[in-house]
Amino acid sequence: MIKAAITAVAGNLPENVMTNDDLAKFVDTSDEWIQTRTGIRERRIENDLSKATSDVAVPAVLELCRKRGISPEEIDLLICGTVTPDMVFPSTANLICAKIGAKNAWSYDISAACSGFMFALCTGAQFIETGRYKKVVIVGVDLMSRIIDYSDRTTCVIFGDGGGCVLLEPTTENAGIMDFILHADGNGATHLHMKAGGSRFPASHDTVDKKMHFVYQEGQAVFKHAVYSMAEVSAKIMERNNLKSEDISWLVPHQANKRIVDGTANRMGVGPEKVMMNIERYGNTTAGTIPLLLWDYEKQLKKGDNIIISAFGGGFTWGSVWVKWAYDGSQSGK
Ligand code: ACO
Repeated sequence: MIKAAITAVAGNLPENVMTNDDLAKFVDTSDEWIQTRTGIRERRIENDLSKATSDVAVPAVLELCRKRGISPEEIDLLICGTVTPDMVFPSTANLICAKIGAKNAWSYDISAACSGFMFALCTGAQFIETGRYKKVVIVGVDLMSRIIDYSDRTTCVIFGDGGGCVLLEPTTENAGIMDFILHADGNGATHLHMKAGGSRFPASHDTVDKKMHFVYQEGQAVFKHAVYSMAEVSAKIMERNNLKSEDISWLVPHQANKRIVDGTANRMGVGPEKVMMNIERYGNTTAGTIPLLLWDYEKQLKKGDNIIISAFGGGFTWGSVWVKWAYDGSQSGK
């Protein structure tokens, strides 16, 4: 049976660093509050307004091709998880492919907020498992700074910019995407959304004046749903695959808030030494968090490692994926 193995990982972040103290200069907050409530110390912000989401993704996808020794022309399909596309249409995936010269690929975006990379990963794996394609690139990237109201202290402190990607290729070994459980509940839209810019509230002077082109988040309601859902779905994927906590090498959790991650790890019985974390440096990059974690920790990943990816985001969307890692990260050419 063919499985979809992750065979390379890459990432990219804007150079500009915004610390908690930088934020405290223009919004009523403090380094102490942000670190205690979220675990974030700093985040990257793309302050060059000539750059859009595809421009942040392109260096990552090119690095991915270089590491795996393939040409962009070999890519069959590229799927991009993002809620900050360059434009409403065409898709950011189309633009990335044009910029890198992936002229034999077709491509599209997936909109699932913080679960965007995970939804795209599971979707892309299907095209490999059927035997249809040999090289599928999955991108997760967001420029959250472009849809954040920097006068709203309850949301602006959590988000950052950046993203990454993985390559999926077929394997007949016991490795790759082993199982996934995905969920969506549109009733969650009340608590987390961006009102304007779509067909409900097309852009107008009024929508701009009312700040409707920014993320609206009821932090506490989202927190409650996220902590419960991420923990439960991660425990469920372990149970149904008979995985004990000692079988898990790594938890790869969406970086929304350190307290949500701790709740998930506790429910799974996984110690902090097995939890990938980089929220302190990048904040919540929405669809970018999971590929950025895999990129940061790649050298520590070993062939055969059982990893559980888990995410929760706008929609609501949430789920978990069991991946058996397919190569020794220490051998990759980062
Ligand atoms: N600095 C200082 N004080 C603040 C700040 C701030 N940045 N933000 C809020 N406060 C204040 C509030 O005004 C409130 O004060 P009050 O008690 O005087 O009214 C107090 O701190 C507590 O506010 P809460 O909203 O209860 O703070 P909470 O502990 O819930 O933390 C946070 C807020 C960080 C947003 C948290 O709720 C959270 O992480 N929520 C989940 C986020 C998430 O997972 N999102 C999903 C993914 S995002 C996506 O899909 C696009």
